[in-house]
Amino acid sequence: VDTGSKREEIESQTDLKVRLVQDADLTRVIELDALVTGVAKDTYWHELYARHRQRSEGEEFFFVAEGVGALESTLLGYVIGEVRAWEFGSEPCGWLFALAVRPDARQMGVGEQLMTTLSDAFRNVDVTTMRTMISRDNHLFMSFFRSEGMMAGPYIQLEKDLKP
Ligand SMILES: CC(C)(COP(=O)(O)OP(=O)(O)OC[C@H]1O[C@@H](n2cnc3c(N)ncnc32)[C@H](O)[C@@H]1OP(=O)(O)O)[C@@H](O)C(=O)NCCC(=O)NCCS
Repeated sequence: VDTGSKREEIESQTDLKVRLVQDADLTRVIELDALVTGVAKDTYWHELYARHRQRSEGEEFFFVAEGVGALESTLLGYVIGEVRAWEFGSEPCGWLFALAVRPDARQMGVGEQLMTTLSDAFRNVDVTTMRTMISRDNHLFMSFFRSEGMMAGPYIQLEKDLKP
């Protein structure tokens, strides 16, 4: 990911496209994740992508947002979601488990378009609930998801320290 600001160029774009991930996107997805989280996880992503390629249609969705025109090859963001059924006694539901927008393309609706595309994909396979999990102190994600209509759900997460 080019960390130099492309904001003006991006702002001048009136459109972007959200499409299914392709093999050629993986390197840029890995770079964007490393930039956003500060942790490079090449192996994780290669394994995730290999599994993704083997999943049946409708089980897992991996979309990327890219610019159009001059920004044709600029990866603006990605979202990944998966349908999980009956675990924890839950009816089939769509889990959003990864989402990121490049820092210089934020607050321009990219995240919202990714969420909308994922929501539509879940609806298309008759999944009518979407869930995600965020850190309590991640105020950015909290504001974003709340503005997208996500609210506290009926489950709580429990954990136990297993260190000796
Ligand atoms: C959260 C994130 C995906 C939002 O993407 P985005 O493209 O900037 O979001 P949008 O422009 O679509 O914003 C939609 C709404 O979210 C809210 N929002 C977005 N950014 C916000 C901010 N910085 N402060 C407050 N609210 C915000 C607003 O309500 C906004 O609607 P508005 O523009 O009409 O006010 C992006 O900030 C991001 O990638 N953050 C890092 C995520 C991360 O750590 N991912 C790795 C772990 S999975």
